[in-house]
Amino acid sequence: MSEKPSAAASGQFKVGGDITVNRLGFGAMRITGNGIWGEPENPETSCETLRRLPDLGVNFIDTADAYGPFVSEDLLREVLHPYKNMLIATKGGLTRHGPGIWQPLGRPEYLRQCVVMSLRRLRTERIDLWQLHRVDPKVPRDEQFGVIAAMLKEGLIRHAGLSEVGVDDIKAAQKHFPVATVQNQYNLVDRKSEAVLDFCEQQNIGFIPWFPLAAGSLAKPGSILSNIAEKLKATPAQVALAWVLKRSKVMLPIPGTANPEHLVQNVAAAALTLSDAEFAALDKQAREAA
Ligand SMILES: NC(=O)c1ccc[n+]([C@@H]2O[C@H](COP(=O)([O-])OP(=O)(O)OC[C@H]3O[C@@H](n4cnc5c(N)ncnc54)[C@H](OP(=O)(O)O)[C@@H]3O)[C@@H](O)[C@H]2O)c1
Repeated sequence: MSEKPSAAASGQFKVGGDITVNRLGFGAMRITGNGIWGEPENPETSCETLRRLPDLGVNFIDTADAYGPFVSEDLLREVLHPYKNMLIATKGGLTRHGPGIWQPLGRPEYLRQCVVMSLRRLRTERIDLWQLHRVDPKVPRDEQFGVIAAMLKEGLIRHAGLSEVGVDDIKAAQKHFPVATVQNQYNLVDRKSEAVLDFCEQQNIGFIPWFPLAAGSLAKPGSILSNIAEKLKATPAQVALAWVLKRSKVMLPIPGTANPEHLVQNVAAAALTLSDAEFAALDKQAREAA
């Protein structure tokens, strides 16, 4: 692995066809308190993690108004504003009533408030990528997609994405606006979104896998994953990340941490190269474990 890791080694992707980012990004959910509620236990460590991002070539950052709530967006503004050459992607559409509690609210007037308030917190005139955190099952999805289309037209947001959706939702949203990204849970051992990923690849939609570091029981000593990690002088989590990156050219993983050393380790995974045989062996083992 190179001495000074850079996310540039992961390759690039044009979000919405016009904003180029390094494919390995950063998830800013873990810089908040327990249960993603309130201030972080150690604010200075969270801030130091954020401060290191530009130097490590990380220019794609994922956050949400619900992280804290508001703590993540506030810290990003405090540390990184005016976000030189960075794409700050945020989300809205989930309300918070306590640690670990997340409730969708997709009424159009609320989604508009989410965007307007994120603009204020991030102190920016336009959100380059705004994602609907969840499609609210209690509100017709066309109403939710309709207000997003209106906000794109008004220039409040540059590109729009969806989170935790199926192919059918993406197609329904595409009737209202071009879907730039989809953010679903995906990792080596959680492959429920394979069909969504394939669809994103066909349509050149950025696929943002969350919880990308997971390797589950595949990381046990003596396993294929552990052996490959040993050979590459890497950790199982780094190999899991390298696998996700190799899976598709539209893949934009956003590993999250509040620990600057973990951040450096995660970025170093961008330079790990798995052979096709190693990729296939891990794929097979993960599918069998599932
Ligand atoms: N759309 C959605 O519904 C949704 C849901 C969840 C998350 N997300 C987004 O996806 C991002 C990533 O998801 P995630 O945070 O759940 O999963 P993740 O990035 O795969 O894992 C994060 C966890 O792994 C630990 N970690 C990170 N790097 C490590 C390292 N090098 N060594 C050891 N431990 C390490 C972190 O703790 P430390 O802080 O101690 O490093 C944290 O507990 C979030 O930040 C958020 O932006 C989206």
